[in-house]
Amino acid sequence: MNQPNEPTLAIDVYRKRRERVLAALRAAGGGVAIVPTAPEVLRNRDADYPYRHDSYFYYLTGFTEPEALLVLDASAASGEPASILFCRAKNVERETWEGFRFGPEGAREAFGLDAAFPVDEIDSQMPLILADKPSLHYALGTSAALDRQVRGWLDGVRARARSGVAAPQAAIDLLPLLDEMRLIKDAHELAIMRRAGEISALAHRRAMAACHPGIREYELEAELLYTFRKYGAQGPAYGSIVAAGANACVLHYPAGNAIARDGDLILIDAACELDGYASDITRTFPASGRFTPAQRELYDIVLAAQQAAIDATRAGATFDDPHNAAVRVLSQGLLDTGIVDRAVYASVDDVIAERAYAPFYMHRTGHWIGMDVHDCGDYRERGAPRDAQGALPARTLQPSMVLTVEPGLYIRPSENVPERYWNIGIRIEDDAVVTEDGCELLTRGVPVKADEIEALMQEAQAAAGKTRDA
Ligand code: GLY
Ligand code: MN
Ligand code: MN
Repeated sequence: MNQPNEPTLAIDVYRKRRERVLAALRAAGGGVAIVPTAPEVLRNRDADYPYRHDSYFYYLTGFTEPEALLVLDASAASGEPASILFCRAKNVERETWEGFRFGPEGAREAFGLDAAFPVDEIDSQMPLILADKPSLHYALGTSAALDRQVRGWLDGVRARARSGVAAPQAAIDLLPLLDEMRLIKDAHELAIMRRAGEISALAHRRAMAACHPGIREYELEAELLYTFRKYGAQGPAYGSIVAAGANACVLHYPAGNAIARDGDLILIDAACELDGYASDITRTFPASGRFTPAQRELYDIVLAAQQAAIDATRAGATFDDPHNAAVRVLSQGLLDTGIVDRAVYASVDDVIAERAYAPFYMHRTGHWIGMDVHDCGDYRERGAPRDAQGALPARTLQPSMVLTVEPGLYIRPSENVPERYWNIGIRIEDDAVVTEDGCELLTRGVPVKADEIEALMQEAQAAAGKTRDA
């Protein structure tokens, strides 16, 4: 079980979120919301994948045990329970094998719910809870297992139709409401995300300091994983990318066993999950501790693109503004270096209009981040007028949204590209909280300027008595 460090200190945070959901449902006519946690998943015989709770469920409960489901009854009469948890019963034998369980009564008390039942009673209790309620709100069509369960509960209500009980007449998707709540982070979430960013930055520092020509990608990954756990994070927020040399041009390359050679760059995209919150950092650095001139040229272009994107990240800007700012700087750099042919593209505007940058920069400059590394929330203004191409306008940034800023350049060998740039892959990624007049970067505990990266690495090499400059 992936138990957060401080499971019960934030009861009010979760209670207030449940109250917001209940208030929104009441304002829309009441009904019952259902939010299950994630299932356990078998990896291979008798061994499960490490358990990770469902993010929506955790957002509303803080509860990390599997086999649990939250019910929010916005039509409960006063005095009746509105927040109800189903969870595993206490079981001395199972707890001997698997560890502590709160049990319904313990969970109700520790997590501030109105009522709790053993999950084994869910099929008998749910038809009672759903009876005569106007609507059912849940993540429609996201889980065949949940859809099947809901159908069974509705059948259970309908079986009592002769006694005058009616089943809900509407099923409504709950996720848009929860997605909008999760998109704007509260102070509790931002505090955890700051700490996650600090731990991940320490991990990157440690990997840079440990690096030397001849090291293998998995050895650098080990430095990252060590640091995540050393400082109390539960693990990586996503599969760690540690890519030496040409591997950096593979966007989702997992840490493998390639050797980092003198003259290679190493791209590390790795970060921890702390108490249910992700961080997401990429740094690119030279195995030797010194960038080659060609690497440095491209590095400084990507860094300038990231700075332009950061400068464009503020409340009132749109989600597309940082991307457009980064694309402009990258496109200019591609022209200046001759990677994009100056004989074909006369200006940076042409490069952008023709998307001539796309073979070298094929991803977006950021994504929402929060409980999920690619977090929930619309990237377009839902319901706004569409433009001539039928597209919705980009989302306007608001304070306390959190997004990554992660431009890159990936230069695969091609006869149209100067050879000195072949196989260079660079990405620089930080996590930014939107503020009224700019943004707060959560992940700058690790250097990002080329000179500062070189200084850190050389200091570490000198300290290890392994200076390789001579
Ligand atoms: N690490 C995943 C991403 O950068 O989006
Ligand atoms: Mn990212
Ligand atoms: Mn990343």
